Amino acid sequence: MKFIDSKFVKEISEITNNMYHQGWDERNGGNISYMIDEEYVKEYFPREDFIRNIDLGFEADEIVREKYFLVTGTGKYFKNIIADPETNLGLVKIAKDGKKAHLLWGFKDEGRFTSEFPAHLMSHAARLKVNPSNRVIMHTHPTYTICMGACIPVDDIVFTRKLWKSNTEAVVVFPEGIGVLPCMVCGTNEIGEATAKKMEEYRLVSWTNHGIYGAGNTIDEAFGLIETVEKTAEIYMITLGHVINEIPDEVILGLARLWKLRIKPGVIDE
Ligand code: 13P
Ligand code: ZN
Repeated sequence: MKFIDSKFVKEISEITNNMYHQGWDERNGGNISYMIDEEYVKEYFPREDFIRNIDLGFEADEIVREKYFLVTGTGKYFKNIIADPETNLGLVKIAKDGKKAHLLWGFKDEGRFTSEFPAHLMSHAARLKVNPSNRVIMHTHPTYTICMGACIPVDDIVFTRKLWKSNTEAVVVFPEGIGVLPCMVCGTNEIGEATAKKMEEYRLVSWTNHGIYGAGNTIDEAFGLIETVEKTAEIYMITLGHVINEIPDEVILGLARLWKLRIKPGVIDE
């Protein structure tokens, strides 16, 4: 079987098509990286003939060195991936020295991985250290999440509380809360480092005026986190200034008891 027909390419192609149709990924907006275990890569590439090397522009953490990532290309449109994965995606192996990536498949038009690869690889490293099963980092530009970030203070507790108080699913899906970064220059190592720092505590990080990052063991987990934030942000924005029936703190604490959740301290008064 060819790698293009693998479940990994299929999953990324389908989810990026879905995200485009949500209206989150205009033009080249958004990027995804999916760590694939060596045993699966070896099924498709037993000889590991590298096509070329691509410089990373930073030194990757040891935990992601010699690991394989299927990643979206920079400047590529989510809407086009499903029809031509081999041009819009690439499979890379992070080199032993952590300074470059070996291309195994894809980026057929001499392309390279997303400009946000520093944020992705640094976030993978941060999540793998707290959860060895993490495989996916997903970045996208969901409209209401960006609106909400523009309307509230840049603060993890404030953002988390407003989400939890707007939709009863929110605390259940992300009991650890959401991290928030101020508006920063994207595509840099600095925003990568700041995102990864938040990822030590959260699976979700909001980039004010830009978008959101989600992490998960699967594509479904990362996507599910982001779609729950986006749905909740939509509720928040549509009701902004009109809310009479906000979710009471006792209901959030009741959900935490029912689902045995370890919720982020300091968000709800106990
Ligand atoms: P890339 O095209 O480099 O992936 O950038 C898209 C994006 O969303 C930047 O934050
Ligand atoms: Zn972006």
